[in-house]
Amino acid sequence: MTTRILFVCLGNICRSPAAEGVFRSLAPEVETDSAGTGDWHIGEPPYAPMQRAAKARGLDIFGLRARQFHADDFVDFDLIIGMDDTNIADIERLRPAGSDTAVKRLTDFAPNARMDHVPDPYYTRDFDSVLDLIEEAAGGLRAAL
Ligand code: 4NP
Repeated sequence: MTTRILFVCLGNICRSPAAEGVFRSLAPEVETDSAGTGDWHIGEPPYAPMQRAAKARGLDIFGLRARQFHADDFVDFDLIIGMDDTNIADIERLRPAGSDTAVKRLTDFAPNARMDHVPDPYYTRDFDSVLDLIEEAAGGLRAAL
């Protein structure tokens, strides 16, 4: 059974901490973390507008802190989940030789969703629709474990 899941986006301040918070609320027994492929926001809490949108749904993600994705994550996690194809490509670039750790898109677990990736609300400013999509996919991921 998959027990350790890492959610990955670009900055680790919007999508992946939101996915971590949503998934944790659904599956508190699963070990989760999140990371960003970029290094701009290391050590920062989730972006305030995303925190507020999450809080409005009863999710407290304030305590999370951004870190950068690194090659050891292929060893430390059983499943790595990116938000879009750029995340997936950046993750795969760091895959150690011989590693067969699964890397998937979050939307792979939301086959009926309108989107095939999680758009970046840092740019779209649409935090609520991203949370809707994350909630749908997190439910699918929970059911797939
Ligand atoms: P995220 O959004 O990948 O969902 O955390 C971003 C947040 C910040 C930046 C990029 C994406 N940035 O370039 O600062």
